[in-house]
Amino acid sequence: MTSFTDAPGLTRDDYTVRAIRPDEWAAVRQLRLDALRDPVARIAFLGTYEEAADRPDEYWQDRAVGSGEGSTAAQQFIAEAPDGTWVGTLTVLVEEAGTKDWAGNPVERRQGHVVGVYVRPEHRGNGLIGALFDAGLDWAWRMRVERVRLIVHEDNVRAQGAYRRIGFVPSGLVLTFSQNESENELEFVLDRPAG
Ligand SMILES: CC(C)(COP(=O)(O)OP(=O)(O)OC[C@H]1O[C@@H](n2cnc3c(N)ncnc32)[C@H](O)[C@@H]1OP(=O)(O)O)[C@@H](O)C(=O)NCCC(=O)NCCS
Repeated sequence: MTSFTDAPGLTRDDYTVRAIRPDEWAAVRQLRLDALRDPVARIAFLGTYEEAADRPDEYWQDRAVGSGEGSTAAQQFIAEAPDGTWVGTLTVLVEEAGTKDWAGNPVERRQGHVVGVYVRPEHRGNGLIGALFDAGLDWAWRMRVERVRLIVHEDNVRAQGAYRRIGFVPSGLVLTFSQNESENELEFVLDRPAG
């Protein structure tokens, strides 16, 4: 079997996946800054390392409260390696029907939006991303969203492969962002399971 990983022998069951606590803003900040230094950050994330590094502590404190345990508007999940290091994350935002999303497009149904998906390189390819999505999707369905969506760059084939395996499919919606209008971003969606 082809393997793209240099993971240190860990499997998904070796990690603890949990929602962040509202006071964990410093660790949230550090993981985000590390993600923004990843070689694929340009096609993976909106915003730059420099912009994030310049933000005051209050920004990260607000962010951790807004997406920490107890929030019903957003939830950030992290994966801890056995030594306690934070090695992966994703955040689910709840988008309400009748509002506009961050790009100004109308939101037609109550839905989850997965953002900030990141696994440290040495922990990729071992199923951890599946565990993070299990936690994020479980929370989204408990929030009674009708579907979950995410946006992925057309060239980010590794992320697309992971999302398809989880069950996401392209919706057909193609977006461009103002910082580079010649590059396409694709919307992938996953409907709420029946029952
Ligand atoms: C996106 C990310 C979280 C996925 O986690 P992962 O552990 O790498 O995912 P996996 O390796 O389990 O799955 C990736 C798929 O792409 C395949 N793949 C791996 N490396 C690849 C490469 N260089 N080119 C093409 N496909 C590749 C894998 O085989 C797998 O496909 P499969 O399910 O058919 O076997 C992780 O790669 C990451 O953090 N990337 C950087 C940040 C990023 O891109 N975030 C997403 C923003 S939308």
